[in-house]
Amino acid sequence: MDALIQYVKQCFKEEYTGHDFFHAQRVVSLAEKMYEKEVSFPKEEELRLIKAIGYLHDVVDEKLTSKREEHYQEINSLLEQEGFSPKEQEEILYVIEHLSFSKNQKERASLSLLGQIVQDADRLDAIGAIGIARAFAFGGRKDQALYDERFPLIKKIPEKRSSSTLHHFYEKLFFIENQMNTKIGQAIAKERTQYLKKFTEEFLKEWQQKN
Ligand code: ADP
Ligand code: NI
Repeated sequence: MDALIQYVKQCFKEEYTGHDFFHAQRVVSLAEKMYEKEVSFPKEEELRLIKAIGYLHDVVDEKLTSKREEHYQEINSLLEQEGFSPKEQEEILYVIEHLSFSKNQKERASLSLLGQIVQDADRLDAIGAIGIARAFAFGGRKDQALYDERFPLIKKIPEKRSSSTLHHFYEKLFFIENQMNTKIGQAIAKERTQYLKKFTEEFLKEWQQKN
């Protein structure tokens, strides 16, 4: 898997909006752990598929790259090199094409169990302590306010971009626990969401102290 990992590192060399190589690494290791809990007999070849999907899942995201075709060519030859069968290559490509959160708002693609596990791991990385850090890093990068008290905090999917990073919690992150595919994903999401809520409470308490 070394060549594939080096390739992903290279792709995210200058990416600081929270979709960096370390995000891919966390997704892989959380997905591996979830897989081992979710199935009774873990298989080495399925763990290999999870690794490939996890590392590659953001490489062809249209938000992050304008060179999708080139990436697909590169990915095809890397997967071939790694010895994945044509059927496995097809599964990996299908999942990385359909995994993204934003895509699933419009239509819900049906993913294989392995795809569902990596999708859960990807979404879990948007909540909890690292999820909070990623959201504020993303917000800073996009010149988005930490919070904007002119707009109400309402739990609903917005039509336009969020008014602030704290709004993003209400508009996306608090929905994640109900969007998990797997039981183990649900349990982790519940715990992390409690942490997000506690953080939000503290944030608003400190914010209000300035008034
Ligand atoms: P996906 O990779 O599933 O398409 P996104 O690109 O929407 O998901 O989100 C990736 C990361 O960026 C997540 O950690 C998410 O919380 C963060 N993010 C996305 N949009 C915003 C926003 N408007 N404000 C703050 N963080 C955001
Ligand atoms: Ni991701």
